Amino acid sequence: MIVQSPSRLRATLRVPADKSISHRALILNAIAEGEAHLENLLDSDDVRSTAACISSLGIAIDWPVGATAARISGGGLHGLYESEDALNCGNSGTTMRLLTGLLAAHPLFSVLIGDESLSRRPMGRIIEPLRLMGARISARRGDTLAPIAIRGGSLRAIQYEMPVASAQVKSALILAGLTVEGRTRITEPAPTRDHTEKMLAAMGAPVDREGRSVIIRRPARLEPLGIRVPGDLSSAAPWLVLGACHSDAEIKVESVGINPTRTGLLDILKRMGASIELQNEHETSGEPVADLIVHSSDLHGVTVQGDDVPRAIDELPLVALLGCFAQGTTVVREAEELLVKESNRIENVVTMLSAMGASIKATADGFIVEGPCDLQGARLDAAADHRMGMLGAVAGVLATGQTRIENDAVTVSYPDFWEALEAASPEAAQTA
Ligand code: S3P
Repeated sequence: MIVQSPSRLRATLRVPADKSISHRALILNAIAEGEAHLENLLDSDDVRSTAACISSLGIAIDWPVGATAARISGGGLHGLYESEDALNCGNSGTTMRLLTGLLAAHPLFSVLIGDESLSRRPMGRIIEPLRLMGARISARRGDTLAPIAIRGGSLRAIQYEMPVASAQVKSALILAGLTVEGRTRITEPAPTRDHTEKMLAAMGAPVDREGRSVIIRRPARLEPLGIRVPGDLSSAAPWLVLGACHSDAEIKVESVGINPTRTGLLDILKRMGASIELQNEHETSGEPVADLIVHSSDLHGVTVQGDDVPRAIDELPLVALLGCFAQGTTVVREAEELLVKESNRIENVVTMLSAMGASIKATADGFIVEGPCDLQGARLDAAADHRMGMLGAVAGVLATGQTRIENDAVTVSYPDFWEALEAASPEAAQTA
């Protein structure tokens, strides 16, 4: 795709459904007893990977191609069947990690595989605690990388202090803990997204929170949970950053999930001085939702660290771009998790924005940007990482001249991103 800067931006749009909630709606309903109707499910590569795996495990899913409504008939807590083939998780870390937790507790033999990027991402972080629960799991490279082979069976409860703040690890252990006798206690170093806990509680599972710990006990059964999935804040993020940084913009993104474990970027934007408003706040299927309105803003640099890191983990690359339009220094630190996302996002953010003329340098756990920078159009390789693809697009729309983005992979989470950009501003986007 080729993008360039429009002189004026006015747009009202909706973004695709939340990816994290869509995965969980399928996985949790697969082990509920009965049928659930899901509305506004995210129809993207990642969620289709989860649906295909669940269906290989014998669960009936009616989700026509191109549809956002689906029906799933859960088989109960012990209703999965052994898959005849390896379960292909594609590019999706959430699919692989959550399913590993689930399958470790089922008396089946399962093999999970992924694409090149997923096969490089750390799996020891789920395998180790699952083994403490008694799981039999092996994996490539000393049990650290996919493919993962699981000979599932009955597990025992543990108390586990997670060394990294990861909702995927927490959710994998919660799924394993659902089947064991006694209390499984998982303590996280910083709060991470809590969609799994919220949905399970709504399905009748005994889930409790005590400070930084989640405690899960075995339910007698799970009730199916029909939900309408809210818009994904991580997909709204490129628009919010575009609106704040462009010199003449007003962008409204409607019906976006604003669960407080996800809204780190909104807090960062406000701290940087962005003009951002929340309207029409309400709840959809147990999750808080709002319309977000952003205007062109005078930004200043901030430091992002601590609890804000997991609350904005997928948006941190966009914070680097905000730093390019802010007065002063923007620092992101304690974000070494960026090294092991769909790509090495520290390296890629720095490579992409440096190619456009930004004054940015990588650190061991983040990056430092000296703003404001004068961004120039460039040829960018998004390294088949969807968040890098959208970062390149927004950076290109804000830069002088034309930017060409290759390997954008936006179909992982935001299949019609380019169409949405063209609809927001026909001047901004064109197919290469
Ligand atoms: C996700 C959790 C986060 C996030 C990912 C989705 C989830 O990963 O980066 O895009 O749905 O649980 P970690 O759990 O590895 O932090």
